[in-house]
Amino acid sequence: MTTTEPRARLVLGNWKMHGTLAENAALLDALRTADAAAHCQFGVCVPFPYLAQTQQLLEGSTVAWGAQDVSKHEKGAYTGEVSAPMLKEFGCRWALVGHSERRTLHGETDQLVADKAAAALASGLTPVVCVGESLDEREGGNTLGVIQRQLAPVLALGADALGRMVLAYEPVWAIGTGRTATPEQAQEVHGAIRVALQGLGVDHVQVLYGGSVKAANAATLFAMPDIDGALVGGASLVAEEFLRIAAA
Ligand code: PGA
Repeated sequence: MTTTEPRARLVLGNWKMHGTLAENAALLDALRTADAAAHCQFGVCVPFPYLAQTQQLLEGSTVAWGAQDVSKHEKGAYTGEVSAPMLKEFGCRWALVGHSERRTLHGETDQLVADKAAAALASGLTPVVCVGESLDEREGGNTLGVIQRQLAPVLALGADALGRMVLAYEPVWAIGTGRTATPEQAQEVHGAIRVALQGLGVDHVQVLYGGSVKAANAATLFAMPDIDGALVGGASLVAEEFLRIAAA
């Protein structure tokens, strides 16, 4: 199902565990001077240690930034965790939560992901909640069931919370593999997510697609009615490619 209300396009980079101070400086400089935000909302999610550098280099520009994870706790004895208030101090607009690499490699549960989203919201950050099925789950015909299961505790946060989030559909089999979901495959899931949101009376949430998005495939994905932008991994590390996605 589609909606007639226009939603702003958002293109967000996810650097994952990449970067050096020198590489970041070159990349951020290229992004800020290109004014990609003329085309869409635009930003980068960087590793925690580079937030200060990112803030310093992007402050006052139209490019926003965020983190790749956030603790569900506000503060306390949680060695290695980073809280939402800390991210806020470094000017973050977004925090990714529930990226498949966190779910798979760090055992993050659907409920923990929802708790992290709630913690982000409580500090005025926009959580970007990632969901997506594995290849086995898709081939077993379980795609929509998996998405529903992952989303259930997030939807339970309620319409007000949902209205302040971004969602991202990232099929695990398409992440970093060079294998993209077809626009139709992505739209099927985005449409189902949209129906679930509309069922709660929430209509304007941006739902991004992620998984091997490149300049060459961005436009056909963005042409789908319920795809509102992209969460971009590998291609966000190359300024020219990332800017071409934003312009798509
Ligand atoms: P990719 O990663 O664009 O390199 O496939 C996307 C993501 O993991 O967010």
